[in-house]
Amino acid sequence: MSKVTVVGAGNVGATAANVLAINEVASEVVLIDIKEGLAEGKAMDIMQTAQLIGFDTVVKGVTNDYSQTAGSDVVVITSGIPRKPGMTREDLIGVNAGIVKAVAKCALEYSPNCIFIIVSNPMDTMAYLTLKSLGLPRNRVIGMGGALDSSRFKYFLSQALLCNAGEVEGMVIGGHGDTTMIPLARYATYKGVPASSLLSAEKLDEVVKSTMVGGATLTGLLGTSAWMAPGAAISFLAESIINDQKKMIPCSTYLDGEYGVKDLMIGVPVIVGKNGIEKIVELDLNDDEKAKFAASEAAVRKTTNVLHEMNLI
Ligand code: NAI
Ligand code: 2OP
Repeated sequence: MSKVTVVGAGNVGATAANVLAINEVASEVVLIDIKEGLAEGKAMDIMQTAQLIGFDTVVKGVTNDYSQTAGSDVVVITSGIPRKPGMTREDLIGVNAGIVKAVAKCALEYSPNCIFIIVSNPMDTMAYLTLKSLGLPRNRVIGMGGALDSSRFKYFLSQALLCNAGEVEGMVIGGHGDTTMIPLARYATYKGVPASSLLSAEKLDEVVKSTMVGGATLTGLLGTSAWMAPGAAISFLAESIINDQKKMIPCSTYLDGEYGVKDLMIGVPVIVGKNGIEKIVELDLNDDEKAKFAASEAAVRKTTNVLHEMNLI
């Protein structure tokens, strides 16, 4: 028996609940929202697909009743406002910090041993806020960004290589922001063959740039931020925790000296298993990658410092 709570039954939260159910990642998924009836409605809609699709996961929707989330193995936080066209993820900090801090506290009361997956933006900062405000060990708070950005990277690589995205490897580290993420072109491969030997430098650079503005491109097209791939990325992470898959996934992680960074949450590859973040993988970055990582660190730190300036932690 395993249980996942998803806080926020909006676009991302409801999609995550849907993918979690279809893939039977957990036996029970609780969707919770502050807006009366919304989570109940989304959960009922998902449950009415169960016999059509053929899954056994029970999805339950509740309005603000955290007692229903008790005993969750994983708590996903998607509550807050999304970006609108022209907004950066960082513009959301004031509103989302209050929401994330409050809901994380309520969820922990009923699920004292849960692993948190933080999704609300600006994600690296919201993950840091959760970790610090709840005083949890760092393995228990995971920021979801790199899983999504890497999936987008692999998509754009497969488009350029005219190949199946499942046969491409690629990883995005750094902050979850248009200018702070670092698609690692040097590590990208197609069936083990370096992408740099298959694509021109210009084409590979185009892939990197498309990845970095991947979220903004969708926000422009949709009028709000994306939810399909974010929902799937949440389920992918939760599955690695619940089934102790020990997958290597780039996630926002609290660094305490690794990569030369202290007291900050930022994306690096980690091993994700039943204890959450079980190991931080230190890549041997070259000088160019190190410079990009240092710039990303500075930007994420600036946003995270706003928490102190606003007395939120
Ligand atoms: P949405 O507006 O569709 O859903 C947000 C939901 O949160 C709403 O249903 C709202 O009622 C609920 N909510 C607000 N305050 C709450 C509270 N105190 N308790 C419970 N629920 C509450 O937004 P969407 O598109 O689902 O995005 C959610 C967040 O995820 C945004 O901050 C967005 O920027 C972020 N996001 C992060 C991604 C990532 O990779 N880290 C990817 C996509 C979105
Ligand atoms: C995304 O990357 C906005 O974080 C959101 O789609």
